[in-house]
Amino acid sequence: MAGRRAAAVAAAAAGLVLAGGAFAQKTSVQAIEEYRAMLADGNPADLFEAKGEALWTQKRGPKNANLERCDLGKGPGVVKGTFVELPRYFADTQKVQDLESRLVTCMETLQGFNGADIAKTPFGTGEQNNVTALATWVAAESRGMKFNLPQSHAQEKTAYEVGKKLFFMRGGSHDFACASCHGEDGKRIRLQDLPNLTKNPGAGSGFGAWPAYRVSNGQMWSMQLRLNDCYRQQRFPYPGFGSDATIALGVYLGVNGKGGATTAPSIKR
Ligand code: HEC
Repeated sequence: MAGRRAAAVAAAAAGLVLAGGAFAQKTSVQAIEEYRAMLADGNPADLFEAKGEALWTQKRGPKNANLERCDLGKGPGVVKGTFVELPRYFADTQKVQDLESRLVTCMETLQGFNGADIAKTPFGTGEQNNVTALATWVAAESRGMKFNLPQSHAQEKTAYEVGKKLFFMRGGSHDFACASCHGEDGKRIRLQDLPNLTKNPGAGSGFGAWPAYRVSNGQMWSMQLRLNDCYRQQRFPYPGFGSDATIALGVYLGVNGKGGATTAPSIKR
């Protein structure tokens, strides 16, 4: 008897806690929505966008050159529309590249920077900041356009298949895969909705939101940094900047997002 009563009390208490939790959650979600709407009016990403545009035309690096002849996939100097077709295969490097690794290639070939050094520079410092600003501007030039990654080259098809494998590959101390958090509709961690990245709308909106300004840490995050942080959440080792693995994941997400409109640079919690 006593045991049953204790259980009933415990259940009632749990119910109260749950109800309280649900109430707090609802109001916080609403508050975050309002906060987002207010912030979207003055998204600090605008500052990074302006910086990126200036960097594109500025003569810099050992060769004292600008990036105006950089080929992001639609021919030298074409920026608009490139973001929604990346990652893609590039004949000169014979590799599938995403926006950031391609920008580093241009900084190397046109401006004489050392690409390997930039890749090793920690996020948020030195030339990495410039890559992020450039990526922010390039993404902004395609705002509202729909994803349409090419899948005609054999390497692009392979990258998609590799990306898919990586997405579902479980491992690490928690036996997580990307799919554990992003493989179904309606998942969330604490207050954050986790988009289903295997199909639209989640894939297009999730992939197409980055680079994004993160209010929680006051930083501009590129897709490379987003993936880096998700590997951390997965308790995996950090992938290298511009590694084949991160690019393959980008192909997988971008192809899944076909037809979804880009909102980058967006603003995030
Ligand atoms: C332990 C859970 C977890 C795992 C595993 C995980 N992520 Fe995430 N992911 C998150 C969280 C949390 C966010 C941020 C949501 C927010 O702040 O709105 C996020 C955000 C993202 C976003 C941006 C979505 C958007 O709408 O802005 C992408 C893209 C993404 N993850 C890709 C991946 C990939 C690829 C992997 C596997 C390498 C992965 N994630 C593994 C938890 C996870």
